[in-house]
Amino acid sequence: MSSSHFTFSIYVLTFALFLQTIFGASPLFHFCSNAENFTTGDQYESNLRKLLGNLNYQTPPLGFGLGSVGWYEYQTYGLALCRGDVATADCKVCVNEASNEIHKLCPYDKGAIIWYDNCHLKYSNKDFLGQIDNENWFSLLNVQNVSELTIFNQKSRELLSQLAKDASFTTKKYAIGELELGKSTKLYGLAQCTWDLSTVECLQCLDGAIGQLPSCCDGKEGGRVVGGSCIIRYEIYPFISA
Ligand SMILES: *[C@@H]1O[C@H](CO)[C@@H](O)[C@H](O)[C@H]1NC(C)=O
Ligand SMILES: *[C@@H]1O[C@H](CO)[C@@H](O)[C@H](O)[C@H]1NC(C)=O
Repeated sequence: MSSSHFTFSIYVLTFALFLQTIFGASPLFHFCSNAENFTTGDQYESNLRKLLGNLNYQTPPLGFGLGSVGWYEYQTYGLALCRGDVATADCKVCVNEASNEIHKLCPYDKGAIIWYDNCHLKYSNKDFLGQIDNENWFSLLNVQNVSELTIFNQKSRELLSQLAKDASFTTKKYAIGELELGKSTKLYGLAQCTWDLSTVECLQCLDGAIGQLPSCCDGKEGGRVVGGSCIIRYEIYPFISA
């Protein structure tokens, strides 16, 4: 990477962080389930409000929270996950922002999911806890092309497969790592699952995410495949606040 490009990236990053500080982070992506609506003042709405309150309280100290509120047709299920390196205070800000924003984006939806850099939050009237979310996925990429495609693909697969295993076998379901890419370049990676998945399910989810890389991010210097249950990411710069 040329130094001017690097300076530019740092500049953009600094500016983005500056904007983030002023306006709050913007969501990366969201889905409204578009399956069922509740109405203002009904029992589902108050259960959802309670659930989001619980998640806001429960998630920041550990980085993960899940729960359910209510019974029968008014029951709601939810979870929130902060990225493994995110400090308690930032996790709190993110989950709080996510709860407020998703309410604006999907105001009457019984199910919705929203992702930020630092966290994601999901709720539904269907019990989805402990199951891999195969429906909600998106991907992001760095548009810069890699110069040595074959080597790059091989190395990024190697790193992410290792991180998928590492993440699955830890209690925090989170792993980061790096790999030498050449004399002066390194590849940085992340793998993370929601804590309601078992080791086997986490690995399965992450392998599924890695399997989506060729269609989303082939030949690109950075990419993420982000789901409701797991996330993978690779970049040629360190993106984790160590
Ligand atoms: C839910 O409400 C939205 C408007 O807020 C509407 O467009 C949509 O069709 C409704 N969905 C169902 C399943 O009733
Ligand atoms: C990357 O490669 C593709 C196909 O070879 C090309 O169309 C695109 O412009 C390149 N992107 C950049 C940022 O150089």
